[in-house]
Amino acid sequence: MHPPAWFTDSRFGMFVHWGLYSLAARHEWVKSRERLTDEQYQPYFDHFDPDLYDPAEWARLAKDAGMRYVVLTTKHHDGFCLWDSAYTDYNATRTPYGRDLVAPFVEAIRDAGLRVGFYHSLLDWHHPEFPVDCHHPQRDDEEFKAANAGRDITKYADYLHAQVRELLTAYGKIDYLFFDFSYEGRPGRWGAKGANDWRSAELLAMVRDLQPAIVVNDRLDIPADFVTPEQYQPVAPMRVGGVEVPWEVCQTLNGSWGYDRDNLDDKSPDLLIRMLVDSVGKNGNLLLNVGPTGRGLIDPRATRTLRVIGEWMRTHSRSVYGCGASAHTPPPDCRYTQRGDRLYLHLFAWPLSQVHLAGLAGRVRYAQFLHDASEVVTHVVDHGQTADTTRMAGLAPGTLTIDLPIQRPDVAVPVIELFLEPR
Ligand code: GLC
Repeated sequence: MHPPAWFTDSRFGMFVHWGLYSLAARHEWVKSRERLTDEQYQPYFDHFDPDLYDPAEWARLAKDAGMRYVVLTTKHHDGFCLWDSAYTDYNATRTPYGRDLVAPFVEAIRDAGLRVGFYHSLLDWHHPEFPVDCHHPQRDDEEFKAANAGRDITKYADYLHAQVRELLTAYGKIDYLFFDFSYEGRPGRWGAKGANDWRSAELLAMVRDLQPAIVVNDRLDIPADFVTPEQYQPVAPMRVGGVEVPWEVCQTLNGSWGYDRDNLDDKSPDLLIRMLVDSVGKNGNLLLNVGPTGRGLIDPRATRTLRVIGEWMRTHSRSVYGCGASAHTPPPDCRYTQRGDRLYLHLFAWPLSQVHLAGLAGRVRYAQFLHDASEVVTHVVDHGQTADTTRMAGLAPGTLTIDLPIQRPDVAVPVIELFLEPR
């Protein structure tokens, strides 16, 4: 797994889940969850008219938040296509909106100097040849299943390949591709599909042939360029077969990927920043999702959150871009990230007056707060001394102590930049 340097250097991207389910506004799996028929789902198609769609605004928001790439759902599991596909009428050009949504997206993201990514669903709950399985909206409809028993996955796979070819030839250079998802072998999932169904090896070879520089995720059920933990933070750098692998965690703002009007589970901006730092400190990326509304807007709550993250990134991106794990072990409630001789100490909790860094005595040439470049004083406490009323003791040899102000700096996560002595 060797993704291009831009990908691992970027560390932070925007995921965009947008489609017909944005109108239902109660989770992107609504068709499956509520077992809706095509007919019951049709009103969202008939009323899809995102008159305020302005991908330049999305790009600006992403860029101001410090994100370096943006990944759009070209098709989600409901089968609705955001681009003008020659292989189906179930696409944006046939809705009241009447236009391709992918072309202006690609142009706006590129113009903003960001990398362009596509998400593409392997599942399709609209295609007439996609065999009904445990996730399909009509999974409990015996009559439907009997009438559709002859569905042919090879015909569906031909469609899948043809559409991916379309996406990777019609819109210029595409930097990133996120396939979603394979479920063969997962317990209790009947009709589950995987690499043989998608003809993954053939599909991936075509992708690489059409876009040699593209970075592809691992959900085709065969290894590709990076692995994709979802909605949890890995406890350490990720490994496959004992070998460390590039990874990107995708996270929601509120537990739903699609616009979810009544959902109040918003994560605080502070938490999201800590999740970003936590990922970088374990050599991972964070792909943070927004679900624009049916009118094409990123809603005010998400916008506010992204602005706060952007405020932090403005003064702290140096501890994110191009950074990764450090060999040093951070103190409790802290995370390190490192790039070359710069070690970044992120303080998730604010201690009283001092923080003690194991193993760094004699290794730090200068230290400052990152947000304002104000010096912080470091010193080494004699580890042989004994404690008395006002004197601490018991620090391990080699510990470096940093003096901190009582007042925590007014930033979401304070960071101390340590300039290491050359080794
Ligand atoms: C899951 C869900 C899906 C979402 C994706 C993001 O696989 O099926 O709704 O798009 O995660 O990674």
